Amino acid sequence: MPYRRPRSARPRLHRATGAQGTSILSHSDQTSQLSARKSAALRGTARVPGDKSISHRALILGALAVGETRITGLLEGEDVLNTGKAMRALGARVERTGDCAWSVHGVGVAGFAQPDAPLDFGNSGTGCRLAMGAVAGSPITAIFDGDASLRSRPMRRIVDPLEQMGARVVSSAEGGRLPLTLAGARAPLPITYRTPVPSAQIKSAVLLAGLSAPGVTTVIEAEASRDHTELMLQHFGATLVTEAEGRLGRKISLTGQPELRGAPVVVPADPSSAAFPMVAALVVPGSDVVLTDVMTNPLRTGLITTLREMGGLIEESQTRGDAGEPMAQFRIRGSQLRGVEVPAERAPSMIDEYLVLAVAAAFAEGTTIMRGLHELRVKESDRLEATAAMLRVNGVKVEIAGDDLIVEGKGHVPGGGLVATHMDHRIAMSALVMGLAADKPVTVDDTAFIATSFPDFVPMMRRLGGDLG
Ligand code: S3P
Repeated sequence: MPYRRPRSARPRLHRATGAQGTSILSHSDQTSQLSARKSAALRGTARVPGDKSISHRALILGALAVGETRITGLLEGEDVLNTGKAMRALGARVERTGDCAWSVHGVGVAGFAQPDAPLDFGNSGTGCRLAMGAVAGSPITAIFDGDASLRSRPMRRIVDPLEQMGARVVSSAEGGRLPLTLAGARAPLPITYRTPVPSAQIKSAVLLAGLSAPGVTTVIEAEASRDHTELMLQHFGATLVTEAEGRLGRKISLTGQPELRGAPVVVPADPSSAAFPMVAALVVPGSDVVLTDVMTNPLRTGLITTLREMGGLIEESQTRGDAGEPMAQFRIRGSQLRGVEVPAERAPSMIDEYLVLAVAAAFAEGTTIMRGLHELRVKESDRLEATAAMLRVNGVKVEIAGDDLIVEGKGHVPGGGLVATHMDHRIAMSALVMGLAADKPVTVDDTAFIATSFPDFVPMMRRLGGDLG
């Protein structure tokens, strides 16, 4: 049965026109509860939607390139559609040509036009922050805005380096937050910048601004973060050199003012979305699920490494690659998991996966200690607190000690709780995964934000046999 929002929630939905006239369901004033119940073994094959990080980048780099970029497998979630809309407002031609197939005709590096309305990035930190970098290298002024969650997130970490490159914050809400008006640099300066935290969003914003600067822009990160921007810049013809920096870090040097040429982009399935059916298959006894085309960039696979250490039966096959991004098929079977210690240095490669890892840890036997999670506090919600609350309300013993999260796994989860999602898609999906194997149903207060990254989540989990309703 296809997923339908409860009738009570529907009259309050309103449709907004997205990029290229695509209809976007706005989530701003809709809420809908949903419960997940103990399910029989999950079975089947599924392909989760396209990778969110790569989808944003394909639209943004397509908009900065000359000529056409054809994208297949784009994630048609609200976050990415908002980025498409913003690129259109900045002068690029962005069209939907088929199912998850899009065409972008770009304006060239530094060629953005002045938008005549604020750019609304909804719930998406990635779309907003990467677009800030791209706008910083164009001689235009743009207003950046988003929903209540995005308005609460830090932006100084992005605009600090952009100001060093010559961009200017004309106005902002308290603490440098959104809504924020950014004036791009007329003559951007190349800089060398050490990121204060390992963040692909900060790195990417600096590199995108550096496209317009003469000379070499360098970003140094103490721990490597996801490198999709670097790989895609090279795919579009930029000259970029990556060197090792210390034990875990990288130094990335980009030669400015390249002519980026539009190029085809095939978006693999998102490992951060695959994480939900993957953990569900591990914790629902007897499950046997195959997930196809999952991106396996080593800077994104920390969860798979961890779940295997916990005893998860996860087989990888059909490994292949496209434009520097590897992908593979995974077969996941119901497994008895055991608690492990997850080192802080693994955090950048699984930063969005700790919520669902905490669910796996709750079903495991023994204690799981996840170290170094300070960045979780500034995501779509304070994910450290929200994850602990999600587990506690369902009878799991959990503790936050500094930046560490400690979960006492007892081999089963009592369940029966109502989970507050705090406008955070990944909390909603993690809680529903928990409910599929918990003793009593788990309910989430609001499923609306699932549409930002994984619009097909509920029907897909039902097709695999999950009892959601
Ligand atoms: C992303 C980077 C990560 C991640 C986010 C997507 C990206 O954020 O949490 O969901 O596409 O660059 P940080 O770079 O701030 O860690």
